[in-house]
Amino acid sequence: MSDGNEFSVTGNLTIASRVGEQRGTAMEIIDVIQSTNTCRYYRPDNISDSILAEVISAARWGPSGGNRQPVSLVIVREPHLKQQLQDLYLPIWEEYFKLIRQGIARVGSNSQVIDDADHFARHIATVPVLVVVCARLSDVHPTDDQLGRLSIVGGASVYPTVQNMMLAARNAGLGTALTTLLCRTEPQVKKLLGIPDEVSTAAMVTLGWPVKPFPKKLKRKSLSEIAFVERYGTPFPVT
Ligand SMILES: Cc1cc2nc3c(=O)[nH]c(=O)nc-3n(C[C@H](O)[C@H](O)[C@H](O)COP(=O)(O)O)c2cc1C
Repeated sequence: MSDGNEFSVTGNLTIASRVGEQRGTAMEIIDVIQSTNTCRYYRPDNISDSILAEVISAARWGPSGGNRQPVSLVIVREPHLKQQLQDLYLPIWEEYFKLIRQGIARVGSNSQVIDDADHFARHIATVPVLVVVCARLSDVHPTDDQLGRLSIVGGASVYPTVQNMMLAARNAGLGTALTTLLCRTEPQVKKLLGIPDEVSTAAMVTLGWPVKPFPKKLKRKSLSEIAFVERYGTPFPVT
């Protein structure tokens, strides 16, 4: 299976060399982090088994509470399964899209990003690989589940794993999008993919060669807006 991409392995470091990437040069990890964007336009080219294995293997190295490792991944490449996942995703997106248009759902994205997300929702089945991220909830150890508010800690045993996979994909020149809308249809997704009762869906990550170049740097809040010194609200001084 040819994906039209060359890559070489130096020790345990895989170096991506694709059109637009500097040939044979390992990316600095900070550049990988700052340019791992949400990719919503994909080329139809296949991802070779070796590159796919390398990317999904990176997921294994994420931390988890008590090292219980609750995450499992279902790699979906069969066209009819991808189409059914798109058919489940699209109505939820359309409902959300309407709320965004009406100003009811608040998003930090501009209208171009929303249009891109709409295109994406209608083309999910054409993305080469869909990774359905699953988690065994009995193994996530949510230490904040007795506080009378929405519990968030359980996710900390799941999403670092997902981010690892996305960073490894970026390093190999692959685009990704982390999505969670599909989780609303968890019963149908579980039935479609044969996911056991005790395992839940946590995300769907799309994976493929991007149409557009990666950004140099993502748009994010400044350091002083998110990092405080000693007390919440005292901005971290940027030198
Ligand atoms: C928890 C989470 C859920 C998301 N769910 C979706 C989704 O269902 N569909 C989608 O198109 N993008 C989804 N995204 C992608 C965000 O819209 C994206 O990260 C954000 O717009 C910033 O874009 P950037 O990563 O390209 O800078 C999700 C991101 C996160 C972190």
